[in-house]
Amino acid sequence: MIKTAILGLGNVGKGVASVLTGNRAEIARKVPGGLELGYILDIRDFPDSPFADKVTHDYEEILNDPEVKVICETMGGKEPAFTFSRRALEKGISVCTSNKELVEARGRELLEIAREHNCSYLFEASVGGGIPLIAPLLNCLEQERISSIFGILNGTTNYILTKMDRFGAGYEEVLKEAQELGYAERNPEADVEGYDTGRKIAILSSLVSGKTVRFEDTYTEGITKICPADFVYAEEHHYCIKLLGISSRMEDESFNVLTAPYLVPQGHPLYAVSDVFNGIFIHGNMVDDLMFYGRGAGTLPTGSAVVADMIQAALSIGKTIPIRWDKERVDLKPHSELVSTFFVRTDLSEQEAVRKAFDGKIADDWSLPAFPDEYAFLTGPMSEAEFAALAEKLKFKTRIRVLC
Ligand code: HSE
Repeated sequence: MIKTAILGLGNVGKGVASVLTGNRAEIARKVPGGLELGYILDIRDFPDSPFADKVTHDYEEILNDPEVKVICETMGGKEPAFTFSRRALEKGISVCTSNKELVEARGRELLEIAREHNCSYLFEASVGGGIPLIAPLLNCLEQERISSIFGILNGTTNYILTKMDRFGAGYEEVLKEAQELGYAERNPEADVEGYDTGRKIAILSSLVSGKTVRFEDTYTEGITKICPADFVYAEEHHYCIKLLGISSRMEDESFNVLTAPYLVPQGHPLYAVSDVFNGIFIHGNMVDDLMFYGRGAGTLPTGSAVVADMIQAALSIGKTIPIRWDKERVDLKPHSELVSTFFVRTDLSEQEAVRKAFDGKIADDWSLPAFPDEYAFLTGPMSEAEFAALAEKLKFKTRIRVLC
């Protein structure tokens, strides 16, 4: 039996507690004697919770219990999560987390501390919620040269976009629903402005490259400017709108990493990824295309992913589960060089000026009778720099990239 603790009884912490207790027998089949939930650290009391007797407000109590070998950090945010994780690792206690903000910003340091103290820092649940993604990437795809990894990495925005698309629901109303369902971040700006997806694609890029990609060095655009009319155009032309995280590796080992809303064509498998579900594509040079699909957020799916790591950590007491993530920064391609095609909506009064500026670069007229005061079009492939130069003096209502 291995004694464990949960730091932070929020949505994910509750999920971890439910999985540890609800699937006790399944876990015990893997870890002799099972994983015992010894403590829950939180500043609050939970008198009505079935785990009320486990709650402590004193972290030292956990650190000073020699039986505690594995903890999960489900507090979120950088501090005190970093300090608590570091202190546990320094005592040889493995830490498993869903905290993508911390993993992206300081995961590499924590991996190093874990190595120095013969324990593990694991973060399967930090990307893709309940989807096993990091473990397959590290364990099953080591032999591959991964050339791209991209997809829907945020459950909240996918839920919002799906409801806006299917039911014409208002943005605020759907965001509130996502918060009530426990999908959204404490500060939902992280979801809707694309920061959460940006952090996740940065983590995946770091793991794929073995070096460091920082989220703040990548281009990030959220979904707050998407409006109801965009969904009408998308649907009429057999597309849907998804927030994508994209990481592409070039021949010269540089990477192109970005987060932005995209028009996804009907034939593409990501078109069917709806609600809180995430879908992630990985392309390896030998294995070809892989797709991972599942619930990208939510108490039990994310809790399940944390417990998967806790089991691995419990089976490796006294050893470090190796994850390569060097300090050296990845060479990132300037965003201005990214080549895309763009869907653009503008006032009808701009049509002549647009046609003149984009002479020979307009691939398709997307105007619709439902919007007689607008001109809409699709550009041919062009770099971000070229698009920005052509668009400089024009006023657009919408500009969304198109997934080819
Ligand atoms: N807010 C995140 C999401 C939670 O919606 O995907 C899971 O990382």
